[in-house]
Amino acid sequence: MSYIEIRDVKRTFEDGQQVLKGVSLSIERGEFITLLGSSGCGKTTLLRSIAGLTGIDSGKIFIDSVDVTGLSPKQRNLAMVFQQHSLFPTMTVHDNIGYGLRFKDMTKEEKERKIKEALELIELEGFEKKYPSQLSGGEQQRVSLARGIVTDPKVLLLDEPFSAIDAKLRKALQIRIKNIHTSLGITTIFVTHDQEEAMRMSDRIYLMHNGKIEQSGSPMDLYLRPQTAYAAGFIGHYNLLTADEWHRACGAVVSDGHYAIRPESVYISGSPWDETADHIYMQGVVRQIIYQGNVIRYSVAVDDIEMDVDQLYEGREELKRGDRAFLRVAEEDLIYYKN
Ligand SMILES: Nc1ncnc2c1ncn2[C@@H]1O[C@H](COP(=O)(O)OP(=O)(O)OP(=O)(O)O)[C@@H](O)[C@H]1O
Ligand SMILES: [Mg+2]
Repeated sequence: MSYIEIRDVKRTFEDGQQVLKGVSLSIERGEFITLLGSSGCGKTTLLRSIAGLTGIDSGKIFIDSVDVTGLSPKQRNLAMVFQQHSLFPTMTVHDNIGYGLRFKDMTKEEKERKIKEALELIELEGFEKKYPSQLSGGEQQRVSLARGIVTDPKVLLLDEPFSAIDAKLRKALQIRIKNIHTSLGITTIFVTHDQEEAMRMSDRIYLMHNGKIEQSGSPMDLYLRPQTAYAAGFIGHYNLLTADEWHRACGAVVSDGHYAIRPESVYISGSPWDETADHIYMQGVVRQIIYQGNVIRYSVAVDDIEMDVDQLYEGREELKRGDRAFLRVAEEDLIYYKN
């Protein structure tokens, strides 16, 4: 049995909406996994179910070989950092962090030592006496994190902890959380709707869609081998073409399904390619060029279909907006989904 086992968890809210439709996951001790999915797919509900903050209709949850399905949040010994800021506004940073220790059987000195260690970990030493309103958004999130960690939880549950934070600080906090995970080795379940964040942070990703797990695997596994058209559309910026679009783009005929093509497996040229049987070819017009550091993303209109093409910038002659573009994709880089 894995460290955390979630088996066929279902949850319907009072208004009749089934939000979890049979979710199963297995997480190893010390793993950092991410629940990734669009808004409303059930991520927070699943996290709250694991923490025991909301009930489930059926299914089982095991942590460290103990069936915790019927246990209270306190008995589960997990820490959750919530999507919205949840610090107590009338308590100092010190007291907010210490709050989790109030019922712990520890001496005052031990508690003070734990709080000090937690402050060091989030690098906010000297902030003890400040109130939440005197902190930036990122600092508040770090204090929330410290409040979770200070109790030595078995599992850390992080629900979009960076949702209110700007891009630069987000990256810094991602690194900080990864460092904390590495140094403490706490089994961590992280929730986000941002695929790049998920790829950067996780040992493994569970992609959720509409109350179910769509696919799970390592970040590169999901990126390179999405098993459904939905997964391909969500991860890796795949170009996703319906059968009809496929026909208009390259002339080939399929009756149904989707083709998915990663932007970096499309090659672009200002002049026609010498055609070979193991490639497909398309033609279009460059509509947009976006420089992403050493990668250039071309958006090419093929008929009315927008194809994204990523090319490493190697100092070669570039295409300009409005130029005719000839695209080539190796057959082996195409992924076909029946639906
Ligand atoms: N207490 C509740 N009562 C009724 N419906 C709820 C309740 N909580 C959540 N829902 C519904 O369940 C669905 C899933 O909500 P949930 O908060 O789990 O989504 P999420 O994946 O965390 O989304 P987001 O990325 O926006 O935070 C939504 O459609 C939401 O409206
Ligand atoms: Mg949520």
